[in-house]
Amino acid sequence: MESIYLLLVSVSIFQISLTTKTCYGPYVTASSLEALHQDIDLVEPYPVDCGGLSCEFYLSPSSALGSHGPLSAYGPLGVMGPIGYHAWNPTAWKFPSNEIIDWTTSNMLFGLSNNPLSSAGPLSSESYHTTLPSINDFGKHLQALGLWGILGPLGPLGALGPLGALGPTGPHNTMNLENHNTVHVKWSTNEIRDFDLVEVLDESHVGEELDCSFMIFGKISVSDETDNYNFNCKPNQFVTITLVPEHSLDYFNMTLFSNTNSAEKIASSDSMKYVNFIQLGLVNNNNNNNGSFRIDVSLHEMHQFILAHSYRLIVTGSQDIIDLKQEENNFKGPHIINC
Ligand SMILES: *[C@@H]1O[C@H](CO)[C@@H](O)[C@H](O)[C@H]1NC(C)=O
Ligand SMILES: *[C@@H]1O[C@H](CO)[C@@H](O)[C@H](O)[C@H]1NC(C)=O
Repeated sequence: MESIYLLLVSVSIFQISLTTKTCYGPYVTASSLEALHQDIDLVEPYPVDCGGLSCEFYLSPSSALGSHGPLSAYGPLGVMGPIGYHAWNPTAWKFPSNEIIDWTTSNMLFGLSNNPLSSAGPLSSESYHTTLPSINDFGKHLQALGLWGILGPLGPLGALGPLGALGPTGPHNTMNLENHNTVHVKWSTNEIRDFDLVEVLDESHVGEELDCSFMIFGKISVSDETDNYNFNCKPNQFVTITLVPEHSLDYFNMTLFSNTNSAEKIASSDSMKYVNFIQLGLVNNNNNNNGSFRIDVSLHEMHQFILAHSYRLIVTGSQDIIDLKQEENNFKGPHIINC
């Protein structure tokens, strides 16, 4: 009798701990993709036409998502790309932030009709929902939570990421720019929208809570060190977190926590086959509150002992351009983790 009572008590405690966990929404990580082992039979819509090669091929570790792909150490987001402080990085040659020049050139770009962030560009519903999937099935799966959503228009390589007009190669010098910064963008003839700039910060300059759009240059100096960063994201957007190693033989991992309840682990990614990322749809807007997050970054394994174990952590929010409720059944499959 007593043992039944104990069982009931423990069952109800278990239920309580289950119900108090906040569910932010569905997500995909490099680890959840790796767990497919290139078997896409259960993925919907099932990709058939990916151009010349089979769709499975593009999930091989030597392909688009791996250490030779565009997210890798030697891709455009890495040290060899436009962002950095080396002589070959264009951002190293920009004048230090000069407000007057910045705001004028900003308005010359973002104030124009048909500017790259406007409804005439890749962020419009027509481009995203109609043109992109009409190219082929790879194009369809570049949408958020698709198999290659990390490479798509809402990820770090898209118009909202550090390589786009909101980053340091755009009209604003966002290198070492602290605080939360927004710009007005002429979206259509009668509509102005605000977009967050992509601030690029050194890990030592991260003294405050960040917004949902930034890039950090970080480094793990002692092998068991964990770096953590706090950031806030408004509800109803896709949040894509990408961890680009600066050297190809370093393998990092990351875990996303709720900042308000640090025991609450939301998602983690520790793949050694793909570049690690987490793409999370903030569908459940808990009373319209901002999602307040903490991301922990560690070194999972190192296969080089000469260069610094440095990384670039990029957070890209899709801002308010898409209504996530309408995206709910866009993709299905074992690569998506639902809570
Ligand atoms: C990364 O992996 C190591 C083990 O390899 C683990 O101890 C650590 O907690 C993980 N860190 C994160 C942030 O996931
Ligand atoms: C959400 O965050 C923004 C700044 O990022 C802030 O202006 C706003 O007041 C916050 N809203 C809530 C409900 O906390």
